[in-house]
Amino acid sequence: MKMQEGFLWGGATAANQFEGGWNEGGKGPSTADMMTGGTHTTPRRITPILEEGTYYPSHQAIDFYHNYKEDIKMFGEMGFKTFRMSINWTRIFPNGDELEPNEEGLKFYDDVFDELLKYNIEPLVTISHYEMPFGLTKKYNGWAGREIIDCYTRYCEAIFNRYKDKVKYWLTFNEINCLTMPLGAFMAGGILINGTENAELSNGAKDNEQIRFQALHHQFIASAKAVKLGHSINPDFKIGCMIAYMCNYPNTCNPDDILLTQQKDQINNMLCSDVQVRGYYPGYAKRYFEEKGIKIQMEAEDEAILKAGCVDFYSFSYYMSLVASSDPNQENSSGNLLGGVKNPYLKASDWGWQIDPKGLRYTLNHIYDRYQIPLMVVENGLGAVDVIEEDGSINDDYRIDYLRDHIIQMEEAVRDGVELMGYTMWGCIDLVSASTGEMKKRYGFIYVDKDNDGNGTMKRIPKKSFNWYKQVIESNGEEL
Ligand code: BG6
Repeated sequence: MKMQEGFLWGGATAANQFEGGWNEGGKGPSTADMMTGGTHTTPRRITPILEEGTYYPSHQAIDFYHNYKEDIKMFGEMGFKTFRMSINWTRIFPNGDELEPNEEGLKFYDDVFDELLKYNIEPLVTISHYEMPFGLTKKYNGWAGREIIDCYTRYCEAIFNRYKDKVKYWLTFNEINCLTMPLGAFMAGGILINGTENAELSNGAKDNEQIRFQALHHQFIASAKAVKLGHSINPDFKIGCMIAYMCNYPNTCNPDDILLTQQKDQINNMLCSDVQVRGYYPGYAKRYFEEKGIKIQMEAEDEAILKAGCVDFYSFSYYMSLVASSDPNQENSSGNLLGGVKNPYLKASDWGWQIDPKGLRYTLNHIYDRYQIPLMVVENGLGAVDVIEEDGSINDDYRIDYLRDHIIQMEEAVRDGVELMGYTMWGCIDLVSASTGEMKKRYGFIYVDKDNDGNGTMKRIPKKSFNWYKQVIESNGEEL
């Protein structure tokens, strides 16, 4: 079927995973710049002090910083209507607590937005995507400190004012619900759980829910303030939330499995969007906090701030589905941010994520039923190992199959009555994996010649999926 006129087809990226130029143009170090490479089996490390001889994937990434013209040209060739990217906070405020923004950083994004607009590509900007100034981690332990709300607001004010005529679509935080999960502490919150000496423990080996949920509260307040501020700067801004949607199925019809599934949906998925879409904490969150002994420190004005800063649309990432079981002896499977139990009806990717296109239709209906506001799929894709054939081609039929199956289900959901604004496929150009730090886990329509250790020519090569997606966009979703 054809999508509605103006449907936003495109691709998605994040600054720390593709931009590089980590210490150029006055940019300061971000939390992402302190994360080493890793693999599927070796977790990335957080090094509070940069280690000589250690490889940090974000430092060069795929060097969009110097290649943006060439890369955007290729997005233009595919016919992108939108491009999701994030701004590197530390290009604008290198330490995070300066009072004036860094002009060179602002200028860089002016150039990038101009280049996108030249091809009629609408920028969709994530304000903070898994990075923040490392200076704020050192000073306030990241989002654990309430002071950071003001730093974020100043950052938003600078970019909203500067780009108010170039950018209409904004997302306040990438996958804000990541802070409901142990993995999120450093990646999403810039929090070192036990101080710098035990930094690596914030990967989730040791956890502190009290700190994570307090940090999340600060992000809610910051997000609500940004929405209000953005609308006052340009009433046409559309500002959304962004959730890593963890589609969960009960393992059996045992009521314990059903309740567990519901609770996971509430805490890991809906808590954040309930606050950001409706403007207040849901009742189940209060019970969860009480039972876990979590005490959220709130200021008198917080309730009103949340209420006044509800988002305009709901965006989310969707890669796979999970299964919840109250039986601890079930076989486990891995997944994006969280794992679950193995689903015998689904195949998994090489990284163990259970591929489930129909789960996307289910998810779109589930979310729309609850909020009745426009939705957008801002991440969906397959991380796979690509092979260059002798003739130089890359035949990623597995990626085309994955995307086609998901787009079919997305269109089914639109037929079901879901209001959908757009679809941006994740990692439209190969980039660094967030979870493992690898290059080998590739998502792109465009191959980038670089390996896990940083070697390669950085040459860009369109894969078979490049022309396939071009035809999808040209036909507005009809020719899959
Ligand atoms: C999402 C993140 O969770 O998943 C992205 O927003 C990330 O930053 C994407 O890259 C895919 O995950 P990974 O670990 O394969 O890069």
